[in-house]
Amino acid sequence: MSELKELLIEEMQDILHAENQLTKALPKMSQAARNPKLREAFEKHLTQTRGHIERLEQAFELLGEKAQATPCKAMEGLVAEGSERIQESEGKNDVSADLALIGAAQKVEHYEISGYGTLRTLARQLGELEVEKLLTRTLGEEESADFLLSEVAKPIIQAGTSELYEAQTGKKQTAGVR
Ligand SMILES: [Fe+2]
Repeated sequence: MSELKELLIEEMQDILHAENQLTKALPKMSQAARNPKLREAFEKHLTQTRGHIERLEQAFELLGEKAQATPCKAMEGLVAEGSERIQESEGKNDVSADLALIGAAQKVEHYEISGYGTLRTLARQLGELEVEKLLTRTLGEEESADFLLSEVAKPIIQAGTSELYEAQTGKKQTAGVR
């Protein structure tokens, strides 16, 4: 086997473990979310993540390899940080709790985006076009999950700004005050 193919397989084994960990972490994130749209975003991404695992399994098959996961230390760290945010969120207000969860989730998404970007490039380099297609579809979903989190964050950030305004001025923020 070429070294490049070995690298592709090793990176796929790493991200498979990362995705497996996420199927356990996302339900906890969803449970901790206060905003219903955020909860929905986590649930949607859980369904997508299961699909990512299936695509990886298909990609392994196309490459004639067993779908085997090797420990992904980076995701272990990101998931551990996410768990800390969940624990800390218990005593916090809705805005801070949800923004902390979004921050943790976006770190995960950015890790996955970079991982799938590398994988896709390696597959293309090796002429594994079917594998490349599968990885590109997953990459697109990771990017849209990241975008969705930013969209969900906007009204939460606005609510935080209003709260701050009220705390500082004692007045309700009216429309047009930004
Ligand atoms: Fe994923």
